[in-house]
Amino acid sequence: MNHNDHLADLERRAELGGGEERLRRQRDAGKLTARERIDLLFDPGSFEETDKFVTHRCRDFGMDEQVIPGDGVVCGHGRVNGRVTYAFAQDFTVFGGSLSETNAAKIVKIMDLAMKMGAPIIGLNDSGGARIQEGVLSLGGYADIFLRNTLASGVVPQISAIMGPCAGGAVYSPAITDFTIMVKNTSYMFVTGPDVIRTVTHEEVTKEELGGAMTHNEKSGVAHFAVESDQECLLLIRELLSFMPSNNVDDPPRAETTDPADREDAVLETVVPAAPNQPYDMLDVIHAIVDDRNFLEVHQYFARNMVVGFARLGGRSVGIVANQPAYLAGTLDIDASVKGARFVRFCDAFNIPLVTFEDVPGFLPGTVQEFGGIIRHGAKLLFAFAEATVPKVTVITRKAYGGAYCVMSSKHIRADVNYAWPTAEIAVMGAEGAVNILYKREIDAAPDVAAARAARIAEYREKFANPYIAAEQGFIDQVIPPRLTRGKLITALAALETKRDKNPPKKHGNIPL
Ligand code: HXC
Repeated sequence: MNHNDHLADLERRAELGGGEERLRRQRDAGKLTARERIDLLFDPGSFEETDKFVTHRCRDFGMDEQVIPGDGVVCGHGRVNGRVTYAFAQDFTVFGGSLSETNAAKIVKIMDLAMKMGAPIIGLNDSGGARIQEGVLSLGGYADIFLRNTLASGVVPQISAIMGPCAGGAVYSPAITDFTIMVKNTSYMFVTGPDVIRTVTHEEVTKEELGGAMTHNEKSGVAHFAVESDQECLLLIRELLSFMPSNNVDDPPRAETTDPADREDAVLETVVPAAPNQPYDMLDVIHAIVDDRNFLEVHQYFARNMVVGFARLGGRSVGIVANQPAYLAGTLDIDASVKGARFVRFCDAFNIPLVTFEDVPGFLPGTVQEFGGIIRHGAKLLFAFAEATVPKVTVITRKAYGGAYCVMSSKHIRADVNYAWPTAEIAVMGAEGAVNILYKREIDAAPDVAAARAARIAEYREKFANPYIAAEQGFIDQVIPPRLTRGKLITALAALETKRDKNPPKKHGNIPL
């Protein structure tokens, strides 16, 4: 065989992976192959593969008879929307995509390069976990990856796509990364599978119920997105990256927009209902304000009383954090606090300004919340907002009650610009609760209890259910007509572009985990 034939033969074997039959099974399962995924992820023709001919070193269990160039993972870099990005794609057709010593070393190599270059790392996971034949070498490979995931956190964005099995300790790499996307019906994640669970706890549960895409999107919050197909997953990664800088010292890319900065939206004047306890959809507010109504919601199915996601205002990326009055009245509970805190910290790490829309009646009462540690978890959101040094702009649309007022990016924890709509109500608590505490004896003794309570409620609302006391104190910078909100936010963000703020020198804070 001449040199070129030898090279072509190696290339062919690497590209064939586990062979035609296993590739067919992969497609029959509704999955793309590792190479097809890489092609869709990157700008056409931009992918440069590294370590295509790396093989495993295992000589046990007849493994020396089964040597496949590439060893079950495709690694390299390419461009996503023109920007350098590193990625690995596990190839399930080669030993079930399992992680060997050398396969891990390939992943570690591109992670180290991505860190040096300041480029995002994308992991396309589809693997039976640690390669059983290699024992501790494989486990060590995982730990090598976990270490890089940790060191890269807050330095370059890391996105994990789960596009097949991801079980055992392998789940901890995606868990450390910034965003996890799961493909419905073909992916699952769990630490211990249904068989072990049946033996230990006698629970019967299917793989899908235990660790499918919707389980982790709705119940556990482990995953941030659920998509219908591999194609949708890869397009979503590209879109997600478009909102982020390549690393923590870059700014996010600016996008062209034809949406006028001074566009007014009359819908905003009537979106807040007249009755204070009537819900409305905060997504209507967000869509009416952001560029081209384009809002990429993160964690859409989890803790729906809190809305987080990416949008642009005047072409600048922003992270939006909002209470959702249409769900649990927009109260803050454990899940909402954790969801919000993690998103705030991502944005802060990557220089993405935070825009907060606030309508929160307080923390969710109840023993479930108190026993579950709402004190500790609610404090995460407070800590995250207080610690964040990116530009922070807040709009209070209606309620800002109690501790939740302080938490939701208030002036006191370093928000730069605080707006309120005229419908804002800023108080220690709602009128009913306050009147019951302040005037209980008086109301109980009144000849007409209902009338006495109503009078006191009206008096309280008159005094506190407005933004003007906070505006008198300078805690609110401006009370703005709702239809002008987009223009006001864009002007504020432009003024904040040169913001420089930092926290006291320390090794790291001690966020209440
Ligand atoms: C080596 C593996 C493998 C593994 C699968 N294969 N998992 N080879 N090590 N971990 C091989 C199979 O032998 C098979 O080879 C091929 O991949 C496809 O596997 P199938 O079982 O035929 O596929 P399927 O029916 O789709 O089932 C997929 C699966 C199952 C659910 C992932 O293979 C499975 O349960 N694998 C073991 C999972 C596991 O327990 N891994 C260790 C987890 S602990 P052939 O030659 O037949 O095609 C872990 C620790 C991480 O990962 C530690 C981090 C700290």
